[in-house]
Amino acid sequence: MCGIIGYIGEKRVSGILMNGLKRMEYRGYDSAGLSIIENDRIKTIKKKGKVSELENLVDHSAVSATIGIAHTRWATHGFPNDINAHPHHDNSNSISIVHNGIIENYSSLKTKLKSDGYTFYSDTDTEVLAVFIGSIYEKVKDLESAVRLALREVDGTFGLLVLSTHEPEKIIAARRGSPLLLGVGNNEYLIASDAAAVIQYTKQVIYFNDNEICTISKDGYHIKTIDNEEAAPIIEEIEFDLEHIEKGGFDHFMLKEIFEQPETIFDAFRGRLLIDEGDVKLGGLRTIMESLRDANRIIITACGTSYHSGLVGEYMIESLAGIPVEVEYASEFRYRNPIIGKNDVVFSISQSGETADTLAAVKEAKKKGATVMGIVNVVGSSIARETHGGIYIHAGPEIGVASTKAFTSQITVLSLIALMLGRMKKLSKYEGQLIAKELINIPEKIKQILELTDEIKIIANKYSNARNFLYLGRGYNFPVALEGALKLKEISYIHAEGYPAAEMKHGPIALIDENMPVVVIATKDEIYEKVFSNIEEVRARKGKVITIANIGDEKIRDVSDHVIYIPETIPLLTPLLTVVPLQLLSYYIALNLNCDIDKPRNLAKSVTVE
Ligand code: G6P
Repeated sequence: MCGIIGYIGEKRVSGILMNGLKRMEYRGYDSAGLSIIENDRIKTIKKKGKVSELENLVDHSAVSATIGIAHTRWATHGFPNDINAHPHHDNSNSISIVHNGIIENYSSLKTKLKSDGYTFYSDTDTEVLAVFIGSIYEKVKDLESAVRLALREVDGTFGLLVLSTHEPEKIIAARRGSPLLLGVGNNEYLIASDAAAVIQYTKQVIYFNDNEICTISKDGYHIKTIDNEEAAPIIEEIEFDLEHIEKGGFDHFMLKEIFEQPETIFDAFRGRLLIDEGDVKLGGLRTIMESLRDANRIIITACGTSYHSGLVGEYMIESLAGIPVEVEYASEFRYRNPIIGKNDVVFSISQSGETADTLAAVKEAKKKGATVMGIVNVVGSSIARETHGGIYIHAGPEIGVASTKAFTSQITVLSLIALMLGRMKKLSKYEGQLIAKELINIPEKIKQILELTDEIKIIANKYSNARNFLYLGRGYNFPVALEGALKLKEISYIHAEGYPAAEMKHGPIALIDENMPVVVIATKDEIYEKVFSNIEEVRARKGKVITIANIGDEKIRDVSDHVIYIPETIPLLTPLLTVVPLQLLSYYIALNLNCDIDKPRNLAKSVTVE
């Protein structure tokens, strides 16, 4: 959601903070700001809009400060404007904070502080926290204690950085429920919500645990719990390199990430497939193999694109292993008092590992006694740490807000889980070998699809002005239809719906006329003929049909306005191929419409509020 960064060291801080904000801008981009300490005063600059708007206001040559904090915001409390932008100050203007998360009891705190004579200028919960810390400092005269005492009274979540002229050579950092890490450099420290913001300076990081508070000075750091107990930090190494978070010659991160999929899918199964045995080895599930074998039911919980990959996983696991699977939006799962049996296993899927609804669902399932496993991309993220175990998808940093490579890596990992469970149950070695061998072919087949870019551009040019789109698919490709529609909505702001192809006649068919493009996934499988009939129904109502079909399927041309031909694979793995042209179609439509593809309006890469 929001991104925060702080620096303390020997270098000029303004450039480092701006650089960090740019690297984290995908997390939130409605306003940005920074505070530094110069000549014993806090200097704060903040501005509505993108980080570039803030950059215009910062005169780096005039800044010699070597300590500061900064923030890029995705509004939760209060409109995105200059005043609501972070950092926020206490009433004496000697404490400045940046905050990621939500202070749930801000309203009662604000009422109390107002009655004590304090003043507020913004609509944010963060300003309440700044003023609250300031009010406690007046009594205790120690910054760390003031922050600690304030946080003990706070309900909600925070990744927090505090800067103060009272103790001008320190930054206080604290975390509960929002990501925060400390980058340990040579005579310098960076504190950020995202490893992408620190990697240029150091790969050595400490991921804070919930309810930890850290005091950082040029000479070192000291981590305790909010209850004032000593913590035992572990220094870890960031797994990716700087080049992974740069565009590498592509116009947008989204396009780069679409083109990375042959490698990222390979990385998701690398070292995990046992081809000769037709089986899979997943170290992260080792401790729960028995629970998995005896599971009565698997529950998958996730949000957004990760929810769609969960739906693909449902088809895969039920078909290969015969274990019933339920997939639930994490936001619904948490609030409907879910029934979780002793022999149920829960999988939570999340690219960022920070989505608040998914994290809350993990906690709810754990509270009910379930074994909870994560399928996560970001190493060291909250969900990765909160679950009993799990599998990293190893897709590398995904910066484009619309998820692409994480989706196919999640599906790859789900296919591995399904195959492993299948082999524990009813699947023969021979059948296992067939699946494993075909999975290895998938990256090459995706490369072939990526060569269709020019064809897809032509289709995009033709339909960029459509106001609505329908996406249809059946079986394994029904979730892909949902994902195709989501991609288009997210980045081009065109209304799009995904439907199981056969359901179209129960409602959406009323929308079809000559202005409605209908994207149909009609790959060769046992329900191909049925999908073919669904296409005829669209044609009969003059809808424009864009079909994703298998190479060699000439018959489908007769009922389609456009056909995107892709290589054949086994039905289980088709989503890995069929989603790629849909990602490209959305990308080129959004490009034609001049949309901000990597930072679509109103969206955030990781939604750390419920
Ligand atoms: C946000 C993003 C989506 C993402 C969803 C779930 O809405 O914009 O792209 O699919 O969150 O995120 P997660 O990190 O949990 O997979």
